[in-house]
Order: sequence, then structure tokens, then C-alpha cells
Amino acid sequence: MTNRAWWKECVVYQIYPRSFYDSNGDGIGDLRGILQKLDYLKELGIDVVWLCPVYKSPNDDNGYDISNYQDIMDEFGTLADWEKLLAEMHKREMKLVMDLVVNHTSDEHPWFQEARKSKDNPYRDFYIWRPAKAGHEPNNWRSFFGGSAWGYDEQTSEYYLHLFSKKQPDLNWENPQVREEIYTMMDWWLQKGIDGFRMDVINMLSKTPGLPDVPAVTNDRYQFAGQYFVNGPRLMEFLLEMKAKVLSRYDILTVGETPFVTTQDAIMIAGEETGALKMVFQFEHMDLSAETGAEIRTDKSSRLLDLKSVMSRWQKDLEGRAWNSIYLGNHDQPRSVSQFGDDGRYRVESAKLLATFIHMLQGTPYVYQGDEIGMTNVAFESIDDYRDVATRNMYREAVENKGVDPLEALKVVHAKSRDNARTPMQWDPSKQAGFTTGTPWIKVNPNYEEINVAEARANPESVFHYYKKLIRLRKENPVIVYGSYDLLLASHEEIYAFTRTLEEDRLFVILNFSANTSVFHLPEDFAVKSTELLISNYNINPDENIQEFSLHPYEARVYRL
Ligand code: NOJ
Repeated sequence: MTNRAWWKECVVYQIYPRSFYDSNGDGIGDLRGILQKLDYLKELGIDVVWLCPVYKSPNDDNGYDISNYQDIMDEFGTLADWEKLLAEMHKREMKLVMDLVVNHTSDEHPWFQEARKSKDNPYRDFYIWRPAKAGHEPNNWRSFFGGSAWGYDEQTSEYYLHLFSKKQPDLNWENPQVREEIYTMMDWWLQKGIDGFRMDVINMLSKTPGLPDVPAVTNDRYQFAGQYFVNGPRLMEFLLEMKAKVLSRYDILTVGETPFVTTQDAIMIAGEETGALKMVFQFEHMDLSAETGAEIRTDKSSRLLDLKSVMSRWQKDLEGRAWNSIYLGNHDQPRSVSQFGDDGRYRVESAKLLATFIHMLQGTPYVYQGDEIGMTNVAFESIDDYRDVATRNMYREAVENKGVDPLEALKVVHAKSRDNARTPMQWDPSKQAGFTTGTPWIKVNPNYEEINVAEARANPESVFHYYKKLIRLRKENPVIVYGSYDLLLASHEEIYAFTRTLEEDRLFVILNFSANTSVFHLPEDFAVKSTELLISNYNINPDENIQEFSLHPYEARVYRL
């Protein structure tokens, strides 16, 4: 039996502030813009907002490179705007979760500015410095954003580690002073009344001592070295210390962004009894669509069996031990409807199906901005229209270093770029999708005249109204939050069906993840008593016999048995 908690019952909405709503016409979303849209979120039924970083930043990685943890980025507004936003959210009984980015800072953070001055500067040891090894970088680690993970600093003729961009030096968590500074900063925000933290790449804090070279698995000069910094030797010690000194004193939602975790890691990090955090974001289901080389797996139906097995393992392994966070998209991923559904003919149906999926699993659902109206990937014609540092670096590396044909590289960008999720929120059919009166920092998706909030709110059959209904159902039915999960028809290649059971209450969720009409036979021993149709994305006869029937393309239904 799972313990009850508010952070299990809520639905979280993720805001990427730069692209949400611009209140002052400078082309960049801002805090006052968010304020103006709170009633929209309330109408949707949202009770928790996760705000991507709004701190001072030179924006090499759109705010994930922080130069001052205790102030607001100029483009987004002021601390007073932020205080007002928090107050207005609380007035509406909404909670605010802030992003915590403490694996690294910006190279423009005063700590790093000091650290690079001299080898004996008091801040030197806040970062990870090494001398050259035989005239080269200290080891062969690759940065997530391409190239070496080491940046050379001329002033002191040493290298500093940066797992992400060269403007994001990694903090040295081995240094207790660093940890104290971070805890004090976290406490400062919590004292202001925030309701939690989403913790950026939090399982990368602890690096293996000695920072050894990683065995090469490709011909590349630099290699992925996750084995030496993912869930490193002191990770749990650091997180438990953070819990003891800060987190345990507040009733908050904490969610760790933890790439490459297994269910066992998740139970260690976020276990009900002894964990440090409330939940983690896992990536196994997102990695199913990962490209292998230049080839992208686009055959969606063949992926369903993998998706079922991954999600079922997470549902079963964590039940009663830890809590799942459920998501299909965020600011680092392509749009969920493009990745897992169909962004063409069945866009509306498949967006609703995916919504049904994330709301009906056990765990806290996270809705990424724009998914509630079924926003899609974008395909800009030129790499110059892309803004994301990762996208631009990868493209350059592919074209310039590896000789990939530019058009081929652009195809990969279209399918995979993080900018797919970062185009401006589409509010209405007016110019720039109603996002700004100025020139947006990144182009709007040209499909905004069709896909936008104004249209969605006016249309009772829209993806938006379907989300509203799902969120309401979740609030009204504890079985949706707490019920245990059981997979049916594990080997069906098009249909994903499962039950959720809480004592006598039992739901049956059936989802056709394909563009085909799919026939479904319930197993013989599946006792169907009376049935009540809770929600469906097609207009169907609610009393239909459900022992054997066919499902329309991307049809989703939820019954109470
Ligand atoms: C994960 C964040 O979600 C991503 O946007 C960022 O680039 C990296 N961490 C580095 O902070």
C-alpha cells in the first residue's frame, strides 16, 4: 500500500519561461507573462508549476548556466516580479517548484571568476582543475554538448571540467564549502516559500576520484564517460546530507533529473523509507527512440513492445518502494506527439491518447507547456534558425568534423533538436502566435494558425478540453493516483492495455498506439462485471460490449470495471 502525499496527487505543468509568454514585447517570455497566464493554468486544473531556471545567466544554455543563484535574469524581470508571481500562485492554491542547477555554474559566476584568477585563490577548489597530461586534456571525457569535457584556461594554464558547455564549469562537490554554499542558497529560496525543487542532472554530482580515462568504444577522440560520474561514489552521501541539512525541514516536492538511472538506482535515490528525494525522472522510455548513428528509428509501432516493457518494469519495481514521475516530453526532447504519436493526420487523437497514458499510470504526471494543445515538432530550413547550443554544436561537429551531408544533418536536427520543444507557446492565430508583439527570440512554429490556445479553448473536442477532463478525473478518483498497475496483452504490438486497482475499485485502460484499426480480445479469465466509460477520445457507445472489439486509430478508453 502506497503512502498518500500531496505531491503524488498533483499534476505538474512545466514552464520554459523564455518561450511561454512575453509581456513587454522584447521577444522573450518573462515572469509577468507567466502571471498573466496563471488563470489559464488554473482552468486546465494544474496545481503545481515547475519553472525552468529564471536566475541571472548569460544564457549560453538558456538559464542552465547560472551567474547568480539569488537573483532573476534581466530578460525575465526582477525579484519583485518573482515574489508577486509566487504570491499570486499561492493565492490560487497553486504551488511553485524551482529548478536547481548545482552540478555546474556559469563561467560568469563570481565563484568561477575568482577561481580562474590564480591557483591559490580561495575559490579555486570550488571547481575541478587539472594540469595538462602530455600536452593534452587531462582525460578523454566527452562533453554532453560535443567535444572535450575540459576547457583550457590560459590565465593559470590549467583545464577545468565541464560536462556540458564550456561556459558551464562543474562544481567540485568534494569541497564541503561548496556544499554549504549550495545548502544556504536552497534554504534562502525555501524560506521565501517555494514548494520544491527540480534538480538538474543531480546524479552527476560525484565524480570518481582520479578522473580516469574511459575505455574507448568508438573511434572518436572523446568518449562518453558516464561510468565515472553518473551515480558516482559519494552521490548518496551528498544527497542525504542535503536532505538532513535542508530538504527534511520542508514539506516539498523534490524531483531529481537522473539520466541513465535504473529502477534500483531510483529506489536508492528516492525510496519511500531511506531515499533523499521524493521522485526522479528516468530516461529509459525516452531513450527508446534514440538515434543510432545517423539513423533515426521512426517505426513507431515496433517500439510499443519496448515501451510497454520499460514502463511496466518502472511501475512494478517502484510500487510501494518509490514514486514515479511520468512524462513524455520536456524542454530537452522533441514534442511528445511527434515522437510517440502522429503529428499529421492523427495529431489530435494521438495527443489525447498520450495524455491518457501519462495521467493513467501510477506516478505524478508532468505536462510540458504546449502539449495540452498538441504542439508539434518544427522543421526550420536552416541551422541558423536554431538557437540551442547542443543542437548547433552537434550539427557543426557532424558537418565539419565528420563530413555528414548538411541536409542529412538537418534531418536529424528536425527529428531530435531540443528546439522542437522551445518554439514559442502558441496562444492565438495572430502574428507570432500571440506570444509577443515583437520579434521572438526563436521563430514560431508555422502551424500556429491551426494549433493554438484560443482555438483549443473554444473547441469542446480539443486536446485542451480532454486534458482538463483527465486532470479532473485524477482528482476525483484515488485509484488513478494510488491504484496498482497490471499489464494486459503484453505481446500485442499495437495495443497497450492495463488495469489499475485500489481495493474494490478497478480501472481498465486501453490505448491503440497505432494508426490502424486494431482488434482486441480480452483474455478469458478477465472478469468484466459492470462497466462505466470514464473517458474516451472518440465518440463511442458507452455501453459497448468490451469482451472483444476494435479500436480506431490512436483510440484511448478508460473504463471502470
Ligand atoms: C539538463 C537540462 O534539462 C538541460 O536543459 C541542460 O542543458 C542540462 N541539464 C545542463 O544543465
